[in-house]
Amino acid sequence: MALPFIVIAVDGGAASGKSSTSRALAARFNLLHVDTGAHYRTVALSLLKRGIDSPEAFEAAENDLLAHLELGTQIDGHEAAMSISGEVPASEAIRNDAVNAVVSRFAAIPAVRKFLFDYQRSQAKVAEENGFAGLIMDGRDIGSVIFPDADLRIFLTADVAARERRRAAEGIGDSIASRDKLDASRKTAPLACPEGATLIDSTFLNLEQVVDKISDMIREKLGQKA
Ligand code: DC
Repeated sequence: MALPFIVIAVDGGAASGKSSTSRALAARFNLLHVDTGAHYRTVALSLLKRGIDSPEAFEAAENDLLAHLELGTQIDGHEAAMSISGEVPASEAIRNDAVNAVVSRFAAIPAVRKFLFDYQRSQAKVAEENGFAGLIMDGRDIGSVIFPDADLRIFLTADVAARERRRAAEGIGDSIASRDKLDASRKTAPLACPEGATLIDSTFLNLEQVVDKISDMIREKLGQKA
């Protein structure tokens, strides 16, 4: 008997291990992994390229800056990437100081979040149509806003010092505490552990331990749904 299609939401602060955890789970359970942080980063890059470097400049622009952005999905293995006009930016182009400096501020603009909402919801269908056993999506508001009806909702946390060490080990400078503050204090879809989600503190856990913990929850869920 075929297993039921499953949707998993993984939220958490900057460098909480969301993407690495989701990537590993996607490979283990044949899920499509969607990193929504990359969506905000891709939109931020596209705005920066058009000379828009702040929410104020975004509001002051005469044209609807988002209306002409054509979104698509490119799948590589278990990873889905968002394209704009058929192009997926290179990882280095969206994960650098220039984008880190503005992405949280752009992500707080309600029009930007509204623009990505339907696209992000549509990824469940993309996963199903491409033969995956489910969708695992990570971000800040997946279990609260995008898929409040997900089969599993996980919220990852770790203390700031541990997260800064992880980023430093990757050779990336990042203002973790200040991005978290901006993401948690915005009015639209703030970063928060939604009611009913499972909170996992990974300060003293390694990646494998977190992946194993969630794997047990996925197996239990699949058993209940079968
Ligand atoms: O996960 P990340 O650090 O790559 O995300 C980049 C920024 O995008 C983050 O500072 C907040 C924003 N973001 C968001 O507001 N909502 C999401 N679902 C994912 C990311």
